[in-house]
Amino acid sequence: MDIKIDLSKTGIGQTDRQKLRPDAQRALEKLRSGTEPFSGWVRLPQAVDREELMRLLDASRRIQAQCDLLVVVGIGGSYLGARAAITALPASAGVHPEIRFAGYNLSGTYHAALLDEMEKREVCLCVISKSGTTTEPSVAFALLKGALVQKYGREEAAKRIFAITDASKGVLREEVCREGYESFVVPDDIGGRYSVLTPVGLLPIAAAGIDVAAMLKGAEAAAASPAWEQDAADYAISRYMLLQSGKTVEVLAYYEPQLWYVAEWLKQLFGESEGKEGKGLFPASLSFSADLHSMGQFLQEGNQIFFETVLRVVEPDRDVVVPESAGGLLAGKSMNAINLAALNGVIAAHAAVDIPIVRIDIPALTPYYFGQLVYFFEMTSAITGMLMGVNPFDQPGVERYKEEMRKELEKLPPCAG
Ligand code: PA5
Repeated sequence: MDIKIDLSKTGIGQTDRQKLRPDAQRALEKLRSGTEPFSGWVRLPQAVDREELMRLLDASRRIQAQCDLLVVVGIGGSYLGARAAITALPASAGVHPEIRFAGYNLSGTYHAALLDEMEKREVCLCVISKSGTTTEPSVAFALLKGALVQKYGREEAAKRIFAITDASKGVLREEVCREGYESFVVPDDIGGRYSVLTPVGLLPIAAAGIDVAAMLKGAEAAAASPAWEQDAADYAISRYMLLQSGKTVEVLAYYEPQLWYVAEWLKQLFGESEGKEGKGLFPASLSFSADLHSMGQFLQEGNQIFFETVLRVVEPDRDVVVPESAGGLLAGKSMNAINLAALNGVIAAHAAVDIPIVRIDIPALTPYYFGQLVYFFEMTSAITGMLMGVNPFDQPGVERYKEEMRKELEKLPPCAG
């Protein structure tokens, strides 16, 4: 069984989609050709450097042996993919460090609490930044590294720091060379949000005890399957046509809380790849059934600017049976069956008022299917961007904010308390 996509409730028929298939096909061929800048992720699953993977797995085992807390420092594409996998997937048996993330916000309170926690634990740091200059991870890394050096001394701290950055450029690479940290490379031809299956995602995911080889196998199976590429192309065409018809928001709705960060990763992938030149779908995420009791009203009867992409896990990890004391329709039912009834009920209610619905069925939350999902969504995002006529691999808007923030930082007094 593979991940399945159902476009039958989008209001867009095969004949409509057919008209855009030649454009989607051209986009696919361009991506596969290897000539498109920043499309290294397309060939990645079939071109894994086995030796490098072994070194990465060895590093992940050393992290597991050395520490009970691994702090992963990074932001955006250098953080969300790993967090998505670690939140969604169960770790295999064995001893793994707890994973905490840092460098994705600028909260003094958050980082102060993390420093307190680090004092009590055996700690390793994994710092991830392609440029090596992004403010949030730079600030956090300086802070946390300082704490590590104080705790273990410079030499031992260096053995507990793992860096993932550009092969030759940037201050982080310079520091790696100077201090001798174990390091891995963010490939030149892969941008942050397409980098989950590079060391950016793989090292923290492996350290968390998740089977990255199975994840790569899932991605490889997706990359080798023309049917999969066609599904990604059809989803991309539907998204593009829905946007053209005035549906400017894609609501990513999930029923397993474990998918929280998969939705966050997807929001970045879609939003940063497509939102430029005044174009793009606005990706939003909702956690059901919780958000049905806040946003359900808007969805059912509010401003119909959106369509929904429903993420369903067919075989959730675990289940419980509701006790007889619950009475009525609930007594003795499995919780997962009730969750499915909610999903089907919501789809029926929303379809009845013509909300377009895409449904994606994930057989189970395993590393293999996670790998498939990553490749599928990356392909969808790239094709949609190309149909929209934007470059899905740049992010000039993000760079703009980084520049403006630097100017603000220059205005701060040297030792602001
Ligand atoms: O997808 C992207 O390119 C961005 O989200 C970056 O990953 C993010 O800004 C972090 O950049 P860096 O890895 O250079 O620190």
